Amino acid sequence: MTDTIEKLRTELLTAVSDAAELTTLEDVRVAALGKKGRITGMMKELGAMAPEERKAAGQRLNVLKDEVAAALDAKKTAFESAALNARLASESMDVSLPVRPETKGSLHPISQTTAEIAAIFGEMGFEVADGPDIEDDFHNFTALNFPPGHPAREMHDTFFLPPDSDGQRYLLRTHTSPVQIRTMMSKKPPIRVIIPGRTYRCDYDMTHTPMFHQVELLVIDTETNMSHLRGCLQEFVRTFFGIDDLTTRFRPSFFPFTEPSAEMDIGCSRQGGELKLGNYGDWLEILGCGMVHPNVIKACGLDPDVYQGFAAGMGIERIAMLKYGIPDLRTFFESDLRWLRHYGFAALDVPSVTGGLAR
Ligand code: DAH
Repeated sequence: MTDTIEKLRTELLTAVSDAAELTTLEDVRVAALGKKGRITGMMKELGAMAPEERKAAGQRLNVLKDEVAAALDAKKTAFESAALNARLASESMDVSLPVRPETKGSLHPISQTTAEIAAIFGEMGFEVADGPDIEDDFHNFTALNFPPGHPAREMHDTFFLPPDSDGQRYLLRTHTSPVQIRTMMSKKPPIRVIIPGRTYRCDYDMTHTPMFHQVELLVIDTETNMSHLRGCLQEFVRTFFGIDDLTTRFRPSFFPFTEPSAEMDIGCSRQGGELKLGNYGDWLEILGCGMVHPNVIKACGLDPDVYQGFAAGMGIERIAMLKYGIPDLRTFFESDLRWLRHYGFAALDVPSVTGGLAR
């Protein structure tokens, strides 16, 4: 028996090491350890042996079985890692190859314009904040000093979601102003943020789409006044449009969340039916703004006798249309590839005030 086991050992280990592929290795395993395999067969013969002999042979067979199983395992692992390496080598790609000419991605004018706005206000020390598109009545209206039943709520053509089990009726935010509330409730003044994002109103024509973008401006500090508001916004429009002497005009207006409230116009000309921005004597409305209403500051848990500040909100599509000569708002959201190719921007040209804002 000892001789037979020794011979079998040599034979099986040679077969394992000679196996050239996984399938051959599997055949070796079945032939040795399978139900009808040779080691299994010898195990069965143990029963017919004398007890002393059986004990010794049994031990040797178990050692053999473990040794062959370990050799099979090691060989299998070697095959598998060789296969993986071959696959990795065959699937490697040369990242230094030039981009395929037919894949021309570009930045949407909304993304470009948002990046330009962030670059300009970033230079002035503003951070970017954001909030959810799905809002509640408190953040979108009540905390912004829209009393319940106030007609200003109707102005917003709100999309409401079906009420939840508590009767709470969520809505799609009608402006980015609710993020003023979220920011004041979560950050300690001084606050200097811009809040770009999607907004929603139930409206659709040449100049309105149900989803559009706004950027909100919020400054909260102890000594902020209306002249800071004016200087900040004037600096912004001059840099954004690249017109150094662009004139601005502030007209009194009304928003529930600011007091006083104003609308800012920029200088333009409409001569010959062509709109041109600059110091030409005519005016174009561009944004709403004002000093944050004490009720809003109070609703956020801050003391309006200590803190004050200004806010502003403007439509991103609108200023993108003015800057880039895009005539129809609806085309922003039609995903027409020809439009995107024409109005899109090179994806890697990150706008900056010093490095340039657009191509
Ligand atoms: N939330 C206003 C709107 O959508 C825009 C606005 C006006 C925002 C004045 C402001 C502001 O922060 O001060 O019509």
